[in-house]
Amino acid sequence: MTPKFHTLKINDVKKETEDTVSISFEVPKELKDDYAFESGQYLTLKADINGEDVRRSYSLCSSPFENEWRVAVKQVENGKFSTYANHELKSGMEMDVMTPSGNFKISTEASNIKSYVLFAAGSGITPMLSIAKSVLNDEPNSDVTLFYGNKGFGSIIFREEIEALKNQYMGRIRVVHVLSRESLGNQIQKGRIDGEKTNELFDAFLRNITIDGVYICGPESMIMGVKDSMISKGVDSSKVHYELFTAPSSGSKKIKLPTNSPKVESNVTVIVDGDEIELNLDSTGENILDAAQKAGGDLPFACKGGVCCTCKAKILEGSANMDVNYALETDEVEAGYILTCQAHPTSDKLVVSFDD
Ligand code: FES
Repeated sequence: MTPKFHTLKINDVKKETEDTVSISFEVPKELKDDYAFESGQYLTLKADINGEDVRRSYSLCSSPFENEWRVAVKQVENGKFSTYANHELKSGMEMDVMTPSGNFKISTEASNIKSYVLFAAGSGITPMLSIAKSVLNDEPNSDVTLFYGNKGFGSIIFREEIEALKNQYMGRIRVVHVLSRESLGNQIQKGRIDGEKTNELFDAFLRNITIDGVYICGPESMIMGVKDSMISKGVDSSKVHYELFTAPSSGSKKIKLPTNSPKVESNVTVIVDGDEIELNLDSTGENILDAAQKAGGDLPFACKGGVCCTCKAKILEGSANMDVNYALETDEVEAGYILTCQAHPTSDKLVVSFDD
């Protein structure tokens, strides 16, 4: 299904910490199927801020079984959207919210007997909270270990909700806070979650368990440190999943793809919601998303940086190259999917569909 914006009413805006609010949306009955999601996925929010169309993606912190659509927005310095969300949004207001997307997700099974290990730093807790709640609710024989890094107690988002989970699911969730600027009385919980700290945490807490899945969300350097540490400790890389929300600063998850093919003039057809948009593009010029938007197409996108996957479409005929791809998995690329914000045609005729 092509991701689509709908105007939703804000149910509730809750101050979680000094600089973070969580926002929940009311999804009308007739749109419930469109907004069905899995833990780990995100919503893209759109607002007109001083005449500018600003879009940002935020992971859902609620879990599907809660029948709630809630995201958390942490204020970042000079952040247009995060400042607006933290200071202007009130319950009862309306906002354009895209249907949920994202490849970073977990499907739970009641019969699973698994051990999940979650690493979060700062606002990276949002998809982890959703994943933890889904596992604890849906898989009665599975357990969760959550490592959560923050500066201090005051910046721990969802602190009470996490405490409540510990009480509700006694013995099935372990929570290990790691603080960089305050002390919890021992060395292991002091500092930042990086590769070295993960090695220590592994030796102290994970040494004797079989890990079935590792999920990581936080800044890029933290993600890479945790991932490398877990793999070095013997966790299979196929079990390590992570979410990048901004383009990596250096080649990490996926490298720049080759675009050295000869220049090709192409007739491009873009299919969206059953409509067709015809474009003449060349392989070295504008990307397909921008060109189709200029031609009047109402196409889904959020980051325009090859990270979020919102602009994904499928090649039905011909071929294309992407400048960068941080979002699609290898099997998706093999199946013909492209990020249209990064894609340029490499064949005389190219047909791409947002509907497949
Ligand atoms: S808009 Fe985010 S990957 Fe294209």
